[in-house]
Order: sequence, then C-alpha cells, then structure tokens
Amino acid sequence: MSYMAPELTVVVPTLNEAENIAELLARLHRTLSGLNWEVIFVDDDSTDATRANIAAAAQTDPRIRLLHRIGRRGLSSACIEGMLASTAPVLAVMDADLQHDETLLTPMFEAIKAQRADLVVGSRYIQGGDIGEWSAKRASISRIATFMGRKLVSDLTDPMSGFFMIRRDAFNLAVRKLSAIGFKILLDIVASANRPLKILELPFSFGQRVAGESKLDANVSGQFLLLLLDKLVGRFIPVRFLMFSLIGALGVAVHLAVLWFALNVLKLPFAFAQGAATLVAIVNNFALNNTFTFRDRRLRGAALLRGFVSFAAICSLGAAANVGVASFLFGSAAASWWLAGIAGGAMSAVWNYAVTSLFTWRAR
Ligand code: GDD
Ligand code: MN
Repeated sequence: MSYMAPELTVVVPTLNEAENIAELLARLHRTLSGLNWEVIFVDDDSTDATRANIAAAAQTDPRIRLLHRIGRRGLSSACIEGMLASTAPVLAVMDADLQHDETLLTPMFEAIKAQRADLVVGSRYIQGGDIGEWSAKRASISRIATFMGRKLVSDLTDPMSGFFMIRRDAFNLAVRKLSAIGFKILLDIVASANRPLKILELPFSFGQRVAGESKLDANVSGQFLLLLLDKLVGRFIPVRFLMFSLIGALGVAVHLAVLWFALNVLKLPFAFAQGAATLVAIVNNFALNNTFTFRDRRLRGAALLRGFVSFAAICSLGAAANVGVASFLFGSAAASWWLAGIAGGAMSAVWNYAVTSLFTWRAR
C-alpha cells in the first residue's frame, strides 16, 4: 500500500463518547472519500470505552490517530494539541457527538483550496443555519454569549461555533497567543491572529447529540468570561492571577464575617475567634482556587489534602512577608499607613500566587 500524506486533519476532542466513535468514523469515511485525510482524537482520559473503540478501529485504518492526555482537561487545549500533533496543511475541528454536520467538511475544504478563505466556519446564525432543538434556557444563554463574543470578534456571526476548518499557516499566526481557556477555541484563534483572517461562513443545522451526555456545565460560562477577559487584558495581567487576587479579597471578607460571628454570637475570646476566622478563610480560598483558578489542574483525593497543607504553609509565609514589607515601609516614614498596607498585601498576593502555582497546583 502506498502512503499518501494527509491533506486534511480532522481533530476530534473526546470525553466519554464511546457510543459515538463508530458512527462518526463511518460518516467521515463516507463524506471524505475523495480526499487524503486523517482524524486525530484527543481524549482527556475518558472513563468509558472511548479509547478502546478508537484503538480497535485504528487497527485496520491508518487514518485514525489518538492523543491520550492524562491529568489535563479542557476542550480548547485538547483541540490545540490535536492540531499541533498534525502536519497536514489544512485542519478541521469537530465534536464527536455528531451534532456537527460532517457533510460540510467537503465544501469547507474546497473553499480553502480555492483560496477563498483562511478559515471556514460552520455557522448556526446565518441564513440556512439553525441551533436545532435547544431548550429556551440554553438558547438564550447561547444568544447572550454570542452577542458578547461578537463584540470581541465582529467578523463572525457564530463565534461560539466549535465546528470549523483552517489553513495551518493561519492557525500558526495565532497559536502562540492562544489563551487556551475553556470551550471556545474558534473565538480564541480569531481574536489571537495578528492580522484579519479571510473568513467564510457556511450554514448548518446543529444536530441532536446521538449518544452520551453533554459536558457543558455551569463552569463553562465562567471559563468563557475568563477567556474574554484574557483576550482583553491578558497582555497586561494574567487572568489566572486576577482570579487568584479576587478570591484573596473575598477571603478577607470571609475572615471578617467569621470573626464578627465568633466574637459577637459565639462569644469566643479574641485569639480563638481570630484563629477560627483564619482557618475558615484559608479553607475557603483553597477550595475556590482549586475549583476555579486552577480548574485545569484540580486536585482530588489524597492530593487534595497534600495541596491544602502546602497552600496553608505557602500563604502563611506570604502573610509573614506581608507584615515584614508593610512594617518596613511604614517605619521608613516614606509611606502612609494605607500605602504600606496595600504594598504588603500586593506583595503577598504575588508570592502566594507564584509559589502555589509552582508547588500546590503544579502543571503536569
Ligand atoms: N478532550 C476533551 N476534553 N474533550 C472534551 C472536553 C474536554 O475537557 N469537554 C468536552 N469535550 C468534547 C466532547 O466529548 C464532545 O466531543 C465535544 O467536546 C463537545 O462537547 P459537548 O459537551 O457535546 O458540547 P456542547 O454540545 O454543549 O457544545 C458544543 O456546542 C457549542 C456551541 O454552542 C461544542 O461544539 C462547542 O465547541 C460549541 O461551541
Ligand atoms: Mn455536543
């Protein structure tokens, strides 16, 4: 059998999609029969038979590849790594659950080959497209998010689409600046490219999920806001740090609330009350950072306990340094009490963030 290098790589992120793999592959074979294509599944350690089904199909089909990621999560980052694992000049991204109309892949590819576009997007919001059978709630959430996304990238009618094809050289314009946060890889790419891309939109009707469950949860909206924020201010302040500081500020409020309660309601002696308030604030901040700030490196089980101990130790050092710096500035008389206070707080925020992201929530 002679080998033909793929002209098109279809990247398919998967998380527990076992029952959809065979049907997706059958459809890709049918619709792409005139092309040299390959598919790269990027699987974030699914707990069902997803990888087994992919591997079984790959035994008889060299077009099928698998990237298995362990200890990492995220639709956007999965798509990026899949695209980086390919050498094809043209890349497509589509879901595994058959909600994206695969017959669009051929006209997408033709538009790119004919130089009519750098990027072709499957859109639900142009003439001929639609969002399919969505609940009123999901439809309106999507509409709000789409509106916000369009403020950022005005040349897309459906910036929230997860179905698109792009030339590799266009992808390369953006790849080093991607935020890689959350679900919205298309928005990320278009907002990160340093020149306007030639974009074509093709309508499609968002299908019904065939098997399995949606991975969309409340956190996805939070991640979307983070992505927007990172695209707007990320050049100046990393959003992760912003989030960490925000949670830190919330911790101060929690501390004061518990202190008040312990003193006035429980009538505890001050030292006890202050100790309890400190403990509650540390637990609160650890839990929030673990769920939101470091969601992609979230600790569970035994690692959670170890993480908490290191977080508490690092933040205690941060508090000591805070007091040191603030006292020094206050003593040097160059700074007023509040300026010294803010400087101490800011310095411990930077310390806590930098060191906990190195040790407590280490990137794997
Ligand atoms: N590797 C990986 N890691 N894959 C993931 C992850 C993850 O953390 N989360 C979801 N996926 C995979 C799913 O297995 C599926 O193949 C695809 O990503 C989309 O996930 P769904 O849970 O089906 O998302 P959806 O249908 O709600 O959202 C789709 O519609 C949006 C438009 O509203 C996606 O296509 C979005 O990209 C799209 O923007
Ligand atoms: Mn889906």
